[in-house]
Amino acid sequence: MHTGPEITAVQLPPDVAYFVDRDDEQSAVIRAVHHRRGAGGGTGRGATGNAAGRPLVVTVHGLRGVGKTALGVRLARALAGEFPDALRFVDLDDHRRDGGVETAEVLGELLRSLGVQPDWVEPAYAGRRRQYWARTQGRRLVVVVDNVRFGLEVEQLLPASADSVVIALSQGRLDDLKGGADLEIPLGPLGDEHAARLLRGLADDPRFSAEPAAAEALARVCGGLPAALEVAGEWLRKHRRRGLLRLAAQLTDELTERGLPVVEAVWDAAYGDLGPDAARLYRLLAVHPGRYLAQETVTALFGEGTEAAEDALEELERAGLLLQGRGGRPA
Ligand SMILES: Nc1ncnc2c1ncn2[C@@H]1O[C@H](COP(=O)(O)OP(=O)(O)OP(=O)(O)O)[C@@H](O)[C@H]1O
Ligand SMILES: [Mg+2]
Repeated sequence: MHTGPEITAVQLPPDVAYFVDRDDEQSAVIRAVHHRRGAGGGTGRGATGNAAGRPLVVTVHGLRGVGKTALGVRLARALAGEFPDALRFVDLDDHRRDGGVETAEVLGELLRSLGVQPDWVEPAYAGRRRQYWARTQGRRLVVVVDNVRFGLEVEQLLPASADSVVIALSQGRLDDLKGGADLEIPLGPLGDEHAARLLRGLADDPRFSAEPAAAEALARVCGGLPAALEVAGEWLRKHRRRGLLRLAAQLTDELTERGLPVVEAVWDAAYGDLGPDAARLYRLLAVHPGRYLAQETVTALFGEGTEAAEDALEELERAGLLLQGRGGRPA
């Protein structure tokens, strides 16, 4: 009998230094896990009774720098107590060549981390896949798969266990995931209050109490994107003498016009991929006041009829430029 080296239970990147918000997203995942267990997942039967060996699949999608990776890692840690066999993190970009993922390589890495001796890992993809199924059968694992581009990339890494959870992180929505996700989380930017709190956490700065409004303005410049807030935090640490209002104005320039193009680049990249109709709708929505819009309003604004508006809205949602609110309203 070949048991291999001892399995390390946790193999995750470190948590971020100062994490804010995302409570709703975390609760939703924990609820889904408990619901699955209550519905029989814990005894090997899936929630629907026909998904006997399919893990709970959670997808998180959103813009670059919005905090998908940070949330994925956080979720895995939050689930640690209930998934004692292993927590794993796989970054598909580490295994991407010419756009495609070397899945055999990923499986090899997972198998070794699950205790299969390197010499025993099958050489080819098909063999590794079978080994992976055998190793994961009935186990309680959490596998975070980061930088997913296509549903198939996740399907190929699903453990053969209804008692496991797979958390897939991607920029666009994974509509092509076979069987769909059990839980789909569109991740939006941080609200103003959380953004300001993150900024304070990143740069504990006396200027905040002297200029509270300016602190909020600075946070707003970052559009609620944690990646941009981190740049702002660096600026605060670098320019210790400048007033915050001056800094906010300069950061806006920096982010939107010149050098560090965090916010602009993120939105530009998402916008650049849109077809002409979705791009036009995006421009129309950008000048519309208010955060919430009913679909009828969008249709009227777009002026091309219901179906064209629906198509364009769907495309914006897929690109992560729009979030669907409660009651089917885009937000
Ligand atoms: N909720 C949060 N609280 C505090 N910091 C956060 C939070 N979310 C993300 N961050 C920080 O913001 C930065 C960007 O987040 P992250 O890398 O998770 O974004 P992402 O959506 O995965 O981006 P990408 O699409 O480029 O992979 C990271 O340095 C991360 O530590
Ligand atoms: Mg990421």
